[in-house]
Amino acid sequence: MDQLTIARPDDWHLHLRDGEALRAVVLHTAQRFGRAVVMPNLKPPVTTVAAALAYRSRIHAALPPDCTFNPLMALYLTDNTPVEEVDLAADTAGVIGFKYYPAGATTNSDAGVTDLARVYPVLERMEERGVPFLVHGEVTDGDVDVFDRERVFIERTAAALVRRFPRLRLIFEHATTLDAVQFVRAQGAQVAATLTPQHLLNNRTDMFRGGLRPHLYCLPVLKRERDREALLDAATSGSPKFFLGTDSAPHAKHLKEHSCGCAGVYSAHAGIELYAEAFDSVGKLDRLEGFASHFGADYYGLPRNTSSITLRRNAVAVPASFPFAGGELVPYRAGESLAWELVTGGCA
Ligand code: NCD
Ligand code: ZN
Repeated sequence: MDQLTIARPDDWHLHLRDGEALRAVVLHTAQRFGRAVVMPNLKPPVTTVAAALAYRSRIHAALPPDCTFNPLMALYLTDNTPVEEVDLAADTAGVIGFKYYPAGATTNSDAGVTDLARVYPVLERMEERGVPFLVHGEVTDGDVDVFDRERVFIERTAAALVRRFPRLRLIFEHATTLDAVQFVRAQGAQVAATLTPQHLLNNRTDMFRGGLRPHLYCLPVLKRERDREALLDAATSGSPKFFLGTDSAPHAKHLKEHSCGCAGVYSAHAGIELYAEAFDSVGKLDRLEGFASHFGADYYGLPRNTSSITLRRNAVAVPASFPFAGGELVPYRAGESLAWELVTGGCA
């Protein structure tokens, strides 16, 4: 198969930033995806429906006027989120759910939840109202090895969470381990997971291939080859519990190539092409459309996109960098090539 037309995909986990940075990146996503779940880890974080709707307007303003791209906003859950905000979120189109960051887990997560027990009343209301809970599934305890943080989160937190809130719609964001795949598979249909392109295409050894490669550093960090294989197997299995979420997370080049480099891989420029490559690597291109264009919408109870995109097998060079808010942004595969090319997109 050298050409593939699928229903327009959606990106169920995306970082767009704000201001000049937003304007530098948003078109890459809008050309490929019909909708994206936009993460709220701005400075300050997007904790209220009012702030999310204002941010959503800034995203629309950064796009060409005829562009139909639809940003769906995630609210940042804090220790102090009032229960009433859940009702407001449930009743607001354009707001998709709440994002849980354990305090200190990743970029701009200082305002994250310090102890889940503090937000049990909020989770109860989310369960009642069917509001999705988007989870960064890592513990942050300093004594837990960085490669074990996801597994330990499942043991210490996620298992108890799904027992206590059996109807809570929980998305295990950017799952990176065999353990997470097994956990998600073992739950009912209310528990799902998003998978990033880099975790389907790379393992942790790639981060050290020939030297330290900061542009492959993200959180949760890349894991072992057996984890990558389990994720790719889940993505291509046809199970509706696993769907596309790039976690594309732009950081300026000088902050990635730094003595204390930021976590985040920028993949929006190839946000569907990379998944085509991953699926093709195991002969499962026929499963791409379900994963990229159907299962996420079905999970969130939203209509599937009616327009389509076409991809063609063709080596396309990736630039060394893109302009980014007065600096540079080094994309995934910078200076190398992609195996698939987007022929017809949107928001040109
Ligand atoms: C994200 C970012 O930069 O905002 N970084 C990352 O490595 N994925 C934060 C996140 O999603 O953890
Ligand atoms: Zn993210």
